[in-house]
Amino acid sequence: MTSRSVDAALWYLGRGSGVVSLALLTLVVGLGIVTRSGRTLPGLPRFAVSAVHRSASLLAVTFLVVHIVTLTLDPQSQLRWLDAVIPFGSHFKPLWIGLGALSLDLMIALTVTSLLRQRIGRRVWRTIHWAAYALWPFAMLHSIGSGTDARRMWMVWFMVACAVAVIGILGWRVSPDFLDDRDRVAGTKLPAPRALEMTRGGR
Ligand code: HEM
Repeated sequence: MTSRSVDAALWYLGRGSGVVSLALLTLVVGLGIVTRSGRTLPGLPRFAVSAVHRSASLLAVTFLVVHIVTLTLDPQSQLRWLDAVIPFGSHFKPLWIGLGALSLDLMIALTVTSLLRQRIGRRVWRTIHWAAYALWPFAMLHSIGSGTDARRMWMVWFMVACAVAVIGILGWRVSPDFLDDRDRVAGTKLPAPRALEMTRGGR
């Protein structure tokens, strides 16, 4: 294989893994919101929704690693390893690559805190997990601004589909009937049987 074909392979792999990462991040945001709602999905009980959410985020991290390694090794992009984690320092499209680096930093924070959830406690974990809502738009802006394919029709439709999915599920997230009834009861912070009594009209 010539060095030119290796460079081309790195570039294609870098772009392809970026697209897959964005698709997986979209899925992860959606599944995270469904997990929070306490609801099931067709064919998936509650525990499975949360398990698929976790597995999809680990898969997204794997594709992100491929994306970053291949594009950093690709001489065309002129990226240094530090550009992947320190935002806005890259010589190549500093703003757009910087947004990608910010998303990566947030992804690392979310992954590490989720793996350490038992140790750090639910409250700290949950506060940090709110960052997921910033991660997705940063990743989307990065994809629009730095991608070679951003103006191709298939990519435009792909990004529109991801945006519609996230905006739709966010609309549901802020709606009054978002929580499953059991979680609404849990949200009263009373022990479940006592809270149930109260919602049924007991004292
Ligand atoms: C959550 C984090 C990230 C996601 C979801 C993501 C996703 C994407 C997507 C979808 C593209 C467009 C690919 C195409 O046009 O076919 C792209 C391009 C690119 N990304 Fe990322 N990316 C992320 C983080 C990063 C980081 C940290 C770096 C820095 C090393 C980086 C470097 C690049 C470069 C150089 C391009 C342009 C590739 C080209 O078209 O020539 N990305 N990214």
